[in-house]
Amino acid sequence: MTWFNQARYGLFIHWGAYSVAGRGEWVANRELHSKEDYIRDCVVPFTAGRYDPREWARLAKDAGMGYAVLTTRHHDGFCLWDTDTTDFKATALGPKRDLVRDYVAAFRAAGLKVGLYYSVADWFHPDYPGAHRRDWPDRWPDEAARQRFVKFYHAQLEELMTRYGKIDLLWYDGCIPSPTDGTVINTRIKQLQPHILINDRNGDPHDFHSCEQAIKPAAPGHDWEACMTLNENWGYHAGDTNWKTPRQVVRMLLETSCSAGNLLLNVGPKPDGTIPEESVRILRESGDWLRRNREFLENSGRSPFTWNNWGRITTKGDRIYLHVINGTGPRLRVSDIANRVLRAFRLDGSAPVRFDQQGDLVTLHDLPASLPDPICTTFVLEVEGQPATTRAQTSFWIPG
Ligand code: GLC
Repeated sequence: MTWFNQARYGLFIHWGAYSVAGRGEWVANRELHSKEDYIRDCVVPFTAGRYDPREWARLAKDAGMGYAVLTTRHHDGFCLWDTDTTDFKATALGPKRDLVRDYVAAFRAAGLKVGLYYSVADWFHPDYPGAHRRDWPDRWPDEAARQRFVKFYHAQLEELMTRYGKIDLLWYDGCIPSPTDGTVINTRIKQLQPHILINDRNGDPHDFHSCEQAIKPAAPGHDWEACMTLNENWGYHAGDTNWKTPRQVVRMLLETSCSAGNLLLNVGPKPDGTIPEESVRILRESGDWLRRNREFLENSGRSPFTWNNWGRITTKGDRIYLHVINGTGPRLRVSDIANRVLRAFRLDGSAPVRFDQQGDLVTLHDLPASLPDPICTTFVLEVEGQPATTRAQTSFWIPG
């Protein structure tokens, strides 16, 4: 899991024919489109005319991310790569181009780890329980249909795992009846790509837990990742302007990092392949903050501290990071610190900070009346030993 825990932050990319509708990635299901209508209205006009994944990779780098995950196919079943299993693919319809190949090449060249999202569900497949289901389908039409479907999707994954060189991560998505014979294909994938990390949405073996639209740390000893949208949709939605602020992005990163987890933050490119300007701005601004304060992030540990009213506390090695979001005036008092504090300083620029320690209460002094960083100002306490607390910590109430 080395690179995964080192990176802590990745880019989720939901892109496909549904981007044309501009009403999210579930449009075919929600609006009861037939496959023919969907091809006419979404797939054919999906030209990807300005698709340049090198731009995407640059943005991911600027944002401070270490990896990315692209939807090679979503529940609509439209494949962004040149598969031999169906003609419902980007090389035959729409872009007339292998979008996955270019993505993999660009992200690898940029030094980013390459992840592929793959939806096992496939609404328009004849053996899938139906394109317009309102609930999670719980049964296959019959065993023969299930076996045909399993053979089909296993063959698709075999292609993805053999045609594009080293793949670092496979991100499964569901909405499919069981059993999907996940163990069979995951075992095969581990042979083909011995270093790959697999999420927990298609059985064992898997390497990390995933949670969605909520930050829910996995139990200690388990690696995990929270995936979150930047507005309220995964796929491009032209009318959704409910963007998170750069500060909210930083807060999410603090939240995942303090429990040794990752944040996979989503963008939904437009049908031409460009990422919405608002997403770019938010990722760049939060990325600027991260550049100034990066040290806390990579390989962050499970912080023994829970909540307070001014921000978040992350830990790593012999350091405690005090991320102040709500300023406390010239003094910041932090209690329950079991370690002797050796040094205190600002993370962005290393300016020393005067402090005193009385038992487990540490006070930082002479802080500026208003915080120098409008997003979050981070102070570091270098301590003796591994960060520890004197009092049992609870999470019975977490402000904000
Ligand atoms: C859900 C949705 C899907 C989205 C995914 C991301 O499973 O069905 O649209 O891609 O979450 O985690």
